[in-house]
Amino acid sequence: MKHTELTRRRTFGIISHPDAGKTTLTEKLLLFGGAIHIAGAVKSNKIRKSATSDFMEIEKQRGISVATSVMGFEYNGYKVNILDTPGHKDFAEDTYRTLTAVDSVILVIDCAKGVEEQTRKLMDVCRMRSTPVIVFINKLDREGRDPFDLLDELERELGIHARPLTWPIGIGTRFQGVYNLFDKQLELFSPNKTTISDDIIALNDLASPLIDEHIGADSAAKLREDIGIIEGVYESFDEEHYRDAYLAPVFFGSAINNFGVKELLDTFVTIAPSPQSRETNIRKVDPTEDAFSGFIFKIHANLDPNHRDRIAFCRVCSGKFERNKFYYHTRLDKELRFTSPTSFMANEKSIIEEAWPGDVVGLYDTGNFKIGDTLTEGEQFSYKGIPRFSPEIFRQVFNRNPFKAKQLDRGIRQLSDEGVAQLFLRQQGNIKIVGTVGEMQFEVIKFRLLHEYGAECDFQPLNVYKAFWFTSEDDEQLKRFHSLQYHHIAFDKDDHPVFLAEGTWSLKSAQDMFPEIEFHLTSEFKTDADAVLSIGQWEKSSNMRHR
Ligand code: G4P
Repeated sequence: MKHTELTRRRTFGIISHPDAGKTTLTEKLLLFGGAIHIAGAVKSNKIRKSATSDFMEIEKQRGISVATSVMGFEYNGYKVNILDTPGHKDFAEDTYRTLTAVDSVILVIDCAKGVEEQTRKLMDVCRMRSTPVIVFINKLDREGRDPFDLLDELERELGIHARPLTWPIGIGTRFQGVYNLFDKQLELFSPNKTTISDDIIALNDLASPLIDEHIGADSAAKLREDIGIIEGVYESFDEEHYRDAYLAPVFFGSAINNFGVKELLDTFVTIAPSPQSRETNIRKVDPTEDAFSGFIFKIHANLDPNHRDRIAFCRVCSGKFERNKFYYHTRLDKELRFTSPTSFMANEKSIIEEAWPGDVVGLYDTGNFKIGDTLTEGEQFSYKGIPRFSPEIFRQVFNRNPFKAKQLDRGIRQLSDEGVAQLFLRQQGNIKIVGTVGEMQFEVIKFRLLHEYGAECDFQPLNVYKAFWFTSEDDEQLKRFHSLQYHHIAFDKDDHPVFLAEGTWSLKSAQDMFPEIEFHLTSEFKTDADAVLSIGQWEKSSNMRHR
């Protein structure tokens, strides 16, 4: 029982730059999985562009999205869990954390736009964790770029080896369908948003005259030429290489037209990894272990004052989670029992009795949880790999109501535990700096501080571009760095020092002056190579932004 429950689970996230088609693809996967029956059911989950400045509107939509945060469905004997990631870039940090709870991802690319800024950042996170990736190149029904160009760009910009498993025949108005290199069949395209076309022609080989019959001699000749190049140039497909995050299989299709989605899903369930073992601070935990363990990767607070509940999302990593059983909260050294743990099946929330590795359980929380907390059956350890990333915007907090200083302090700390923003302290906590990914979080913080804690504050912009966590074996250099950069050093919530760099130049000069110090863009770092690599990538992406 335990073994099959484990091996049949596929827990993944769909990532994309906004507008590439993530919502549409999610919806189509749910349609195939029978979890929803009409198109449009998932749309409410998407934060509309028009609402960018109205965060209450966004909160309303986030409220809806709690139900769809994890979408589970059964497909061909597999239990598929899609972990939703917010499309809005101001909630990117939420997305990064969700990626720590998945076992693989599907990356959606718009065939006209190729690799975009968010795609790069999300892939950086996947690469850090060696998450296997399948690529879906979408919108082939529209004019787009040459598929070989797109593959080159994927390889160059995202640092992965691509291997097409389907190949498009024409594009835009000339799009005729795809050739499936794996199953050796032609799949013919007819635009249709509501039904699933199954115009599939099985072929013995590429020389088959059936191809010419269906797509015409010219397209057939081009297809044969393209496939020749693919077989000659790209590595052959190897499932192990994919699961090692070395090779990304690539599919082409049109999500809105249900085209290419079934092939994607069928291949996905067959090759994607089931839950794997995970690192903790003391040992690796295998999902087959009997004792339950899991970690909190997301906390959702309800802003509606009539429903002051918080839901902590726990990813089950080992054993079996059971309702009403006491579990050990390893940070607080405390036993907790959950009477109404929730599962999320598409739009329905329901109380569950048990959950297995790969599942996500919603736990009602009265303030016990912080992001990254671990639950076990008694063993003392905490899961690693839930890093914080450097924020993009930094502001200093000023108290506006001296009688509410304590409330402000408590409120800011609790909101940062929930992951709304990151808090950095200077001068023993006298200077509070809040770091976020987007402007909108500042509005959220102000609103919540006032409504939940009765505290009022102002934010003043700071000339900080990125925060770098830093480490060194050389205590002397560390000491000198601390005293020289006193005004640019703050402490994160775990009391780790960070260097608040004003720009690439200040990082460079710090690196030149203190060669023994390693700078890291995330709070969890492994090796020197990681640090150098991420800084290189960061420069690349910051140059892109400044162009
Ligand atoms: P996102 O979640 O990644 O932000 O993207 P979403 O699925 O919302 O898709 C963005 C836009 O692209 C939508 O149009 C959607 O209908 C369209 N789209 C998705 N897949 C395809 C496809 O295969 N072909 C074409 N031609 N378009 C596609 P919209 O006008 O922004 O929204 P809507 O009015 O259609 O809802």
